[in-house]
Amino acid sequence: MVVKGNQAEHKISRHIYGHFAEHLGHCIYGGIWVGPESSIPNTDGYRNDIVAALKEIQIPNLRWPGGCFADEYHWQDGIGPRESRPKMINTHWGGVVEDNSFGTHEFLNFCELLGTEPYICGNVGSGTVEEMSKWVEYITFDGESPMANLRRENGRDKPWKVKFWGVGNENWGCGGNMTAQFYSDQYRRYATYCRNYGDNRLLKIAGGPNGGDVHWSETLMKNVGSGRMWGMSMHYYTVPKGWGPGGKGSATDFSEEEYMITMQKSLHMDELIKRHTEIMDMYDPQKRVALCVDEWGAWYDVEPGTNPGFLYQQNTLRDALLCASILNIFHHHCDRVRMANIAQMVNVLQAIILTKDDKMVLTPTYHIYNMYKVHQDAKMIPVELLVPQYTCGTRSLPAVNASASTKDGLTHISLVNIDPHNAVEISCRLEDVAATQVSANILTANELNVCNTFEQPENIVLKEFKQVKLKKDGSLVLTIPAKSVITVTLK
Ligand code: AHR
Repeated sequence: MVVKGNQAEHKISRHIYGHFAEHLGHCIYGGIWVGPESSIPNTDGYRNDIVAALKEIQIPNLRWPGGCFADEYHWQDGIGPRESRPKMINTHWGGVVEDNSFGTHEFLNFCELLGTEPYICGNVGSGTVEEMSKWVEYITFDGESPMANLRRENGRDKPWKVKFWGVGNENWGCGGNMTAQFYSDQYRRYATYCRNYGDNRLLKIAGGPNGGDVHWSETLMKNVGSGRMWGMSMHYYTVPKGWGPGGKGSATDFSEEEYMITMQKSLHMDELIKRHTEIMDMYDPQKRVALCVDEWGAWYDVEPGTNPGFLYQQNTLRDALLCASILNIFHHHCDRVRMANIAQMVNVLQAIILTKDDKMVLTPTYHIYNMYKVHQDAKMIPVELLVPQYTCGTRSLPAVNASASTKDGLTHISLVNIDPHNAVEISCRLEDVAATQVSANILTANELNVCNTFEQPENIVLKEFKQVKLKKDGSLVLTIPAKSVITVTLK
């Protein structure tokens, strides 16, 4: 392996470490928000345990209110006294009652509490241009206007700052079943009336393709172009058994073959990014438009006995391995991929946190975000790897993937060994990386399906890894245990 310190050029935007919280299952209600009257310890309604855990991993942005929910959300239902807000049906997610007690103020104040950038996704599918335009005015305008005055009446004098603004979600599907041409025309209309008030500058993000749909991305690049959007989203989920009627696969009970398929499908992210980048480069060679992978992660069958509309799943070492591998892919493409949001933050899909009443569990995926936070806003260092293959049946993948970055005089190298059976010896030449001290941490477990539970929340946690050496000739030597993720720090 070679780490090429002199070729560090592009920054890994911290925004690829973004998260996503939708009004879905217990992500918001019971997850982030319990309300000020709750017996669960909270600050103004936000769970204290969740706030502390999120602060620890320094989340850079939070996408809200959906997802599919965004295109049926009418923001004016979620302002004013909570007790008089209208109730609605959450038709996408379980048909449950949404009482709108978590709305614009609750979301933006939560972001302030966390010190994270809000990323709001506006309603194109069932909302109007006027409605979206007024939302921006309500949140960001400082002067005299009907919306700014309404905000003041609702207790917030000064506007909030909001940069990231999504113009619809999955408009090829739940966001209105539009064609690419129709959506791109709609985008131009809606985006026109999302104004910049005062010094607030919106970074508008168009609802981009589903996985590999390059026709969608090409239409947007052609018809919207780099002058009208800051970013184009792309959604891709890892679904081991696919979307068919036979089920997607269990989160905890899977064979080695299913694990291999999960990894293959996850690493496909690299190919998808390359395909869209090729199209984007044709229309935007200067790479002004960011590719925002603002929904990604593993999607399994829900845990037995839970509401199928709530998408509640466990999270194991397999998820940690796939998460770290995909983050490595984002690092390699950091000149184009400048935002990403794992789905979702609490209790939904590849969650970083699970809650049950007053209990909270940090998942293996959480620990990867904690381990990888050192890469936020660091300069990506290209790495060259020559590693053995991991083979399962007829399928084969490189056993190890890696990425590296440098910031504030430190260099970090993250390595993932996806092989569940064999350790891999790494001898790494450090080119133009000055280092005299080395340390490392590791995430691993005895089995791929080990997870943290409410009864045993520390089955899989970050640990110090001591078996790493900086040799006299300046090279780095370590043996990565089977099925593990390691981040090495060089000083
Ligand atoms: O994350 C769950 C759902 O997946 C989102 O609401 C939607 O955008 C996507 O299909």
